[in-house]
Amino acid sequence: MLKGKPFVKWAGGKRSIVNKLIELSPHEFSTYYEPFIGGGAMLFELSPKKAVINDYNRELMNVYQCIKDENKFTLMSSELNKHEKNHSEEYYYQIRDIDKNKNKFKRLADYKRAARTIYLNKACFNGLYRVNSQNQFNVPSGKKNKINTYDGINLGIIYSFLNLNDIKILSTDYEEAVKDAKKGDFIYFDPPYDSDTTTFNNYTDNGFDKKEQKRLFKVFCDLDQRGCYVMLSNYNTILIRELYQNYYFHYVETQRNIGAKAKDRGIVEEVIITNYNNN
Ligand SMILES: C[S@@+](CC[C@H](N)C(=O)[O-])C[C@H]1O[C@@H](n2cnc3c(N)ncnc32)[C@H](O)[C@@H]1O
Repeated sequence: MLKGKPFVKWAGGKRSIVNKLIELSPHEFSTYYEPFIGGGAMLFELSPKKAVINDYNRELMNVYQCIKDENKFTLMSSELNKHEKNHSEEYYYQIRDIDKNKNKFKRLADYKRAARTIYLNKACFNGLYRVNSQNQFNVPSGKKNKINTYDGINLGIIYSFLNLNDIKILSTDYEEAVKDAKKGDFIYFDPPYDSDTTTFNNYTDNGFDKKEQKRLFKVFCDLDQRGCYVMLSNYNTILIRELYQNYYFHYVETQRNIGAKAKDRGIVEEVIITNYNNN
């Protein structure tokens, strides 16, 4: 079976540790839930028959919706080709700044918004997603002369995957996204990471602070009690070790690929926590 790969570069993307995640996944489960989907590396590799995918970022989830819809997919693809052809420094800022006019942006067709999200991701500095307090995308140009926004083969594989399987696409808070999970379902949480120092973790207009990590822990425990298989990745920080001390820890070394400064790209220890033992 051909598997898709992320159509955007996303902070915290899981491509480098996806094999480890697969190895630690339960051998059998009913519905797969991924409430912080981002670029979807794990979803595509796992390719479940039934899944609920979610992310708070509406622009991102609109892309998944548009890839799934045949008509919107066709329109989005030609829009992507247009962006690729017209790309220049000036064009980037023209497309980026569409959201400065709130009314105009609200009226923009879904497929145009989706193509804009992919284009900005490919053409901006370092594939970052960052918005200001007005929810306006404010990442500068990556100053690339040429970009490939349209990867027709990969998008086609993702289109088939989303349509041949039972995949529900949501854009809400993670707690709401997993509310229907039942015994035997598998939930993989890849939240914005905790940190012992300050690092890049502002993915959306709402931050994910220590209070949020504690709320997520409660949701993890609740799912555990419901009889779900729960897996979570995060950094190996003091808080994470303390919260999840009664669960299974698996250690992975990973290279961070997003960060404006070189020092933010060092090796950091990532942990995968499960409420089950796969051995
Ligand atoms: C670490 S990233 C996920 C990376 C992703 N798994 C991948 O492989 O690319 C965390 C994601 O959580 C989303 N997010 C932040 N707060 C959220 C919330 N309260 N509910 C749902 N999603 C949230 C962000 O938009 C971001 O895409």
